[in-house]
Amino acid sequence: MPDDRNDPLEKLAAAHRSLEENLNDIERAARGLGDPRGRAAALEGLSGVIAYFERSMIRHQEDEERSLFPRLAVLESLAPTLDRLRKEHKAHQRALDELRAAIERDGGAGAAEEVPQLVDRLRAEYQRHIACEEQEVFPAARRFLQPSAVHAITNEMETRRGRGGQGNPAKGISGRPHRPGGLRRGP
Ligand SMILES: [Fe+2]
Ligand SMILES: [Fe+2]
Repeated sequence: MPDDRNDPLEKLAAAHRSLEENLNDIERAARGLGDPRGRAAALEGLSGVIAYFERSMIRHQEDEERSLFPRLAVLESLAPTLDRLRKEHKAHQRALDELRAAIERDGGAGAAEEVPQLVDRLRAEYQRHIACEEQEVFPAARRFLQPSAVHAITNEMETRRGRGGQGNPAKGISGRPHRPGGLRRGP
């Protein structure tokens, strides 16, 4: 890794920190659901935070599933782990769908209790998932990937964010162009 600033594995790890902060934002936004007078505003804020989290999560999963994992496919010992991580990505999406449904189901009245529980569950699933990637997958990638592959991953991640013509050009690999509701979003 000749240049840490362009190291895609560092960028992926930074995205993990961002996603963790997004979960904290969701939890904070959900606290407002307990106050009937502030519920409408809390619901709007929460929907925005969840939508942001989902966009970030999907793009991060694409970075891993389309750019990183395929380049590690020849490492047979890692194959079961990568399979499991892909399945967990789908589970995270389902958990997020459940979270959104809980908010929409009753206009937020029951969500004040349900959302924190769902966020806790998602956070626990994420912690295990992220620990595996950072302790097992990324170190293997550092040992195995040639500089040309690292460079290609960086380019693909940039392209995914519009630097090559798709998405939002203002947004870098772990960049965050907008902060609905004034909530913190991380790096
Ligand atoms: Fe992942
Ligand atoms: Fe990840």
